[in-house]
Amino acid sequence: AKDPVRVLVTGAAGQIGYALVPMIARGVMLGPDQPVILHMLDIPPAAESLNGVKMELVDAAFPLLKGVVATTDVVEACTGVNIAVMVGGFPRKEGMERKDVMTKNVSIYKSQASALEKHAAANCKVLVVANPANTNALILKEFAPSIPERNISCLTRLDHNRALGQISERLSVPVSDVKNVIIWGNHSSTQYPDVNHATVKTPAGEKPVRELVSDDTWLNGEFITTVQQRGAAIIKARKLSSALSAASGACDHIRDWVLGTPEGTWVSMGVYSDGSYNVPAGLIYSFPVTCANGEWKIVQGLSIDEFSRKKLDLTAEELTEEKALAYSCLS
Ligand code: NAI
Repeated sequence: AKDPVRVLVTGAAGQIGYALVPMIARGVMLGPDQPVILHMLDIPPAAESLNGVKMELVDAAFPLLKGVVATTDVVEACTGVNIAVMVGGFPRKEGMERKDVMTKNVSIYKSQASALEKHAAANCKVLVVANPANTNALILKEFAPSIPERNISCLTRLDHNRALGQISERLSVPVSDVKNVIIWGNHSSTQYPDVNHATVKTPAGEKPVRELVSDDTWLNGEFITTVQQRGAAIIKARKLSSALSAASGACDHIRDWVLGTPEGTWVSMGVYSDGSYNVPAGLIYSFPVTCANGEWKIVQGLSIDEFSRKKLDLTAEELTEEKALAYSCLS
């Protein structure tokens, strides 16, 4: 039998945490033959609620779940973890400025970076979900210099899946037949959902989405804004954030990273830019990636038309500004 993998979920008493921990314990993230030990962190005001989640995990009698650590101590939470899913953060409350939210979150990510660096297992893979996800991940990277930058990522897989879902609905095809959309840039409303390389499996072979959806007005307009603003639409409908789909996207992200992407398929991940596609190096930016042997690689050589170029640059500019704001909050 395999040794258990230790998976940290921060903010585990929150909305996403509640949807995510049972998925991990059922093998959705790491596979049906991989035992896990869950480490759940939250803050003292949420300790009782966190303990309630632990009670439910016991009651669910998940065969793969070999242990649960539920704690408000960041060192205990981080010790020995192989995978860290960082969902904990400070939500934007009414009347708060962007800078106030940024200040709260970057200071959380700065201190959790140090705890992970000192106490996580060697080669721990980190996924940041909490917003501002790209910039929180960047701060985590900068304040955990001994964690290799290839091990730090942020979640844009939810946006990627949303784009697949929109194409699937539009063409009335199974979502599993649609692939190779791309989310470029920030997990924010400036993200660019790009279908220029996306395809659909048909009885006559793989066809470009651009050929099947002949309505360019929709593809260049409503499709993009629907994906960009889907989070807000869910909050409006549910009065709560998109926890189920975020949790599912987080599992997809880690599963593909660890177990590999299928041949001929790429996914979107927020990763440290090396300057590919003329995206400024030193930002955490969402790119198309393939994964094998536990490593991601940015897909190279895709053509970028003028429409796309502007959108790639716009979201990069926003990330550059966020980075500056984050640093001004820390100083
Ligand atoms: P939530 O407010 O229900 O849960 C957040 C949890 O984090 C709370 O239990 C809170 O006590 C905890 N927390 C706060 N500070 C902490 C700290 N220093 N250490 C550990 N835990 C801490 O929020 P929800 O809906 O679960 O969302 C979590 C985050 O994920 C938010 O920032 C949200 O904006 C973001 N999000 C990101 C998505 C993405 O695709 N990247 C999609 C949806 C949400």
